[in-house]
Amino acid sequence: MVVACFLLLTIILFLATASSTTTSSSVVINASQTSHGGCIPAERAALLSFKAGLTGDPDNRLVSWQQGAHTDNCCRWTGITCSRRTGHVIKLDLHYDDPMVYYLSDDEPESHSLRGQLSPSLLALRRLKYLDLSQNYLLGDAKDMPGFLGSLQSLIYLNLSKMGFQGRVPPQLGNLSNLVQIDIQRNIMGAGYQYSHDISWLARLRSLEHLNMGWIDLSGVVDWVHTAGALPNLAVLILFQCGLTNSNVPSSFVHHNLTVLEEVDLTGNQFSSPDTPNWLWNVTSLRSLRLENCGLSGTFSNKLGNLTLLETFAFGLNNVDGMIPGTLKKMCNLRSLDLTGNDISMDIKEYIGFSDNNLEVIIDSHWVPPFNLESAWLSSCRLGPKFPKWLRWQKGIRELDISNTGLVDRLPDWFWATFSEVTWLDISWNQLSGDLPANLEFMSVITLLMQSNLLTGLIPKLPSTIKVLDISRNFLNGFVPNLGAPNLQVAVMFSNAISGLFRLQFVDCGNCGS
Ligand SMILES: *[C@@H]1O[C@H](CO)[C@@H](O)[C@H](O)[C@H]1NC(C)=O
Ligand SMILES: *[C@@H]1O[C@H](CO)[C@@H](O)[C@H](O)[C@H]1NC(C)=O
Ligand SMILES: *[C@@H]1O[C@H](CO)[C@@H](O)[C@H](O)[C@H]1NC(C)=O
Ligand SMILES: *[C@@H]1O[C@H](CO)[C@@H](O)[C@H](O)[C@H]1NC(C)=O
Ligand SMILES: *[C@@H]1O[C@H](CO)[C@@H](O)[C@H](O)[C@H]1NC(C)=O
Ligand SMILES: *[C@@H]1O[C@H](CO)[C@@H](O)[C@H](O)[C@H]1NC(C)=O
Repeated sequence: MVVACFLLLTIILFLATASSTTTSSSVVINASQTSHGGCIPAERAALLSFKAGLTGDPDNRLVSWQQGAHTDNCCRWTGITCSRRTGHVIKLDLHYDDPMVYYLSDDEPESHSLRGQLSPSLLALRRLKYLDLSQNYLLGDAKDMPGFLGSLQSLIYLNLSKMGFQGRVPPQLGNLSNLVQIDIQRNIMGAGYQYSHDISWLARLRSLEHLNMGWIDLSGVVDWVHTAGALPNLAVLILFQCGLTNSNVPSSFVHHNLTVLEEVDLTGNQFSSPDTPNWLWNVTSLRSLRLENCGLSGTFSNKLGNLTLLETFAFGLNNVDGMIPGTLKKMCNLRSLDLTGNDISMDIKEYIGFSDNNLEVIIDSHWVPPFNLESAWLSSCRLGPKFPKWLRWQKGIRELDISNTGLVDRLPDWFWATFSEVTWLDISWNQLSGDLPANLEFMSVITLLMQSNLLTGLIPKLPSTIKVLDISRNFLNGFVPNLGAPNLQVAVMFSNAISGLFRLQFVDCGNCGS
């Protein structure tokens, strides 16, 4: 009897402990909501209704979306994520990732996208945080972006990019006050012209970090700069091809709250003067700035140089003809500088002399540089894959290091003549191919480093000046007779197809040039 009572008491205590644990870790499961295997019936019904609004699902992606004893748990359906805590659907991700989507329109038989209409039944998903329907054609009859989406107030991520919508961007999106990322980039295929005359609703998205409205016509917007500038958390601003011009930009300098903005893409708008986007010069947090094909002509302001964190600066296809000396000088983090299509007479000499900084300089292949370099230390900069043609005009160069620059090309036929006066020549660690010429006696080179390439042929007759030669790790297969090179001190040649006898004062120091 005593034993039985003790046992009973223990069980009661155990149960009490268990229930208090459950409460304290706040795992509250509402039995009446989750009676059908962890999925809230009203939300399941909403999803089925969404599915019923589809007219096409070529890949049967929603095959798991079924009512039935074994399939009722909508949390297990493709593209759905539920909160473990509440059982509510918090994520709906049906994005269709097709690089070909630009070439397909909704009536294209090859398209694998979902088709049909975007059902308002989704509004039942009141805890939905993440909605990605990008690249599907859920356009309905009206084909405009439905305003009811603005009522999904829990959303923090909304991706409706490349869906083929038409017409006005609904200002109701401004009700999504929790939104952190919004991507409504237009699909350029088909008739889907989209516009907005008033984007003041954006200013209400105080948490917004990522904004992409690429290809949407914003030419009627009076002042997008103040609107965007009011978003204190904005890190990415993508407004390429939006029809923006000088008239949409305030003429005087703008005060803004953009302290964390890192990436701006305004490609394809028409600003005419490099000073038009001048408010950007004050956004010193910028790491990437794209102003390609913006109709910019004239000279960049020296204030641009305040963007010292800039890693990518693309202003190709403009008519910028000058850079105030020193403008780029403070941009020590620059990795990629795209100048294609400009009439460059600017002084970028010092950057080109920038080594081991990973700078990628993208210039027209027929660009003739207005300067003459005496030395270019470009090791580990990204120059390739083509051999940089502009080097052809650097006849006065004395030291050239283009080692490890991603060159995958044949050595151009002008290479040896152009660099005949160079004393230090380093083209090592690329994938340069071609036969070496039979005779290099006309050169002045003292140190010639060509190791680790794809060079073929014979080791040529060497110049009398040469002291150090490294041609290891190539596909050379012998020597020309009478090699010359009376001053040669170091020659590294392993990993070739060379056979035969070769006498030198020092052979294979293994560590040349360091
Ligand atoms: C449980 O869910 C039902 C149905 O949705 C709701 O009426 C009820 O208020 C919920 N109870 C709790 C404690 O949340
Ligand atoms: C939106 O979806 C597109 C296509 O699936 C994707 O490329 C893009 O990165 C997404 N945008 C964001 C902000 O995640
Ligand atoms: C949503 O936004 C629209 C337009 O900005 C507004 O008229 C409407 O009252 C808002 N709805 C809610 C629920 O806030
Ligand atoms: C910047 O933020 C402050 C504080 O939120 C606000 O008072 C001010 O109006 C904002 N400035 C701009 C230009 O949006
Ligand atoms: C530009 O930035 C400086 C330094 O942060 C600040 O003092 C100045 O007011 C800014 N100018 C404008 C117009 O925002
Ligand atoms: C920006 O650059 C200009 C001109 O070089 C300089 O006078 C100004 O102090 C700089 N502003 C900041 C905030 O660095």
